[in-house]
Amino acid sequence: MKTSKVTIHTLRQMKERGEKIAMLTAYDATFARLLDEAGADVLLVGDSLGMVVQGHDTTLPVTLDEIAYHCRAVARGARRAHVVGDMPFMSYQASLEQGMTNAGTLMKLGGCHSVKLEGGAIHAELVHRLVGAGIPVMAHIGLTPQSYHQLGGFKVQGRDPGGRERLLADAHTLEDAGAYAIVLEAIPADIARDITAALTIPTIGIGAGTGCDGQVLVSYDALGMDETFKPRFVRRYETLGAKIKDAVGHYVADVRAGAFPSDSESFSLHENKATPNTIDPALYSTAGKK
Ligand code: KIV
Repeated sequence: MKTSKVTIHTLRQMKERGEKIAMLTAYDATFARLLDEAGADVLLVGDSLGMVVQGHDTTLPVTLDEIAYHCRAVARGARRAHVVGDMPFMSYQASLEQGMTNAGTLMKLGGCHSVKLEGGAIHAELVHRLVGAGIPVMAHIGLTPQSYHQLGGFKVQGRDPGGRERLLADAHTLEDAGAYAIVLEAIPADIARDITAALTIPTIGIGAGTGCDGQVLVSYDALGMDETFKPRFVRRYETLGAKIKDAVGHYVADVRAGAFPSDSESFSLHENKATPNTIDPALYSTAGKK
C-alpha cells in the first residue's frame, strides 16, 4: 500500500503505468479515514451529498457553504487520499469571475486539494483560468446531474447521433484547458474507452464501463446504505443499511429491557480515585485525529 500523499501528478503517473485509480465519495471525517485507510486514492466530496446525506431528490439545492463544511471534515479524516471538492449548482455557471471566486473559497475554506465541475467545452475558459491560478480541476462530462432538468432526468448520455463526437470533443477541449482528470458518467462503455485512449489525463468512470483509468462510486451506494437502491452501474460491496438497522434494533431492545448500560459501562462514586473525572481515551471517537 502506498503511503505518500496522492497528488494530481500521482494520478497522471498511475494512468501512465496502467494502474487503476479507485475513487469514492466521502462526506465526513469518519468515513474519510476508513476509505483512506482502505486504500481509496481519491475522495470526492460530491454534491451527491444533497441526495444521500440531505435527502433531496437532486443535487441542485446544495450550496457552496455546505460543500466547504463537508470538505473540511473529509480533509481532517483523510491522510493519503487526494480530496476533491465538488462545485455545486450555480456556483460557477453565471460567470468566470463567480467560478474563480467560489473555487478559491472552496480551496481556502474547505481545505480540499482540487475542485470538480460539471460540463463540457463551455467551461474550458474557466478551467484554464482556475489552473492558471493554481487550482487543479477535475472535469465531469456525460450525465451531469446538475443539468437534471435540462437532460430530462438521470439518463445515459452519448447514444444520440453525434453524441460520441460531442463527448470526445468536450474531453479533448477540457484536457487542453488544463483539467488534470475527467469523470465520465453514464456513457456507453465503448465511448468511454475511446476517450480514455485519446486523452493523456486519467478518466474516472461511473456507469462508463471498465475501459476508464479509474472508477468512482457514491460510497453510500457501494456500501448498501439504502437497501432499496440498486441501479445497474452500482456494485454493492456491503449491506450496511441492513446491518445498521440490525445493530440499532439490538440497542433499542437493550435500552427497553434495562440491559444497557451495564455496571462496567457506568461510573461509580469511589473507583479510579487517581483520575476521578477523566474519561479515557476521549468523550467521543475523534476520527480525524487517528
Ligand atoms: O457528486 C458526486 O458524487 C459525483 C460523482 C458521482 C462523480 O459527481
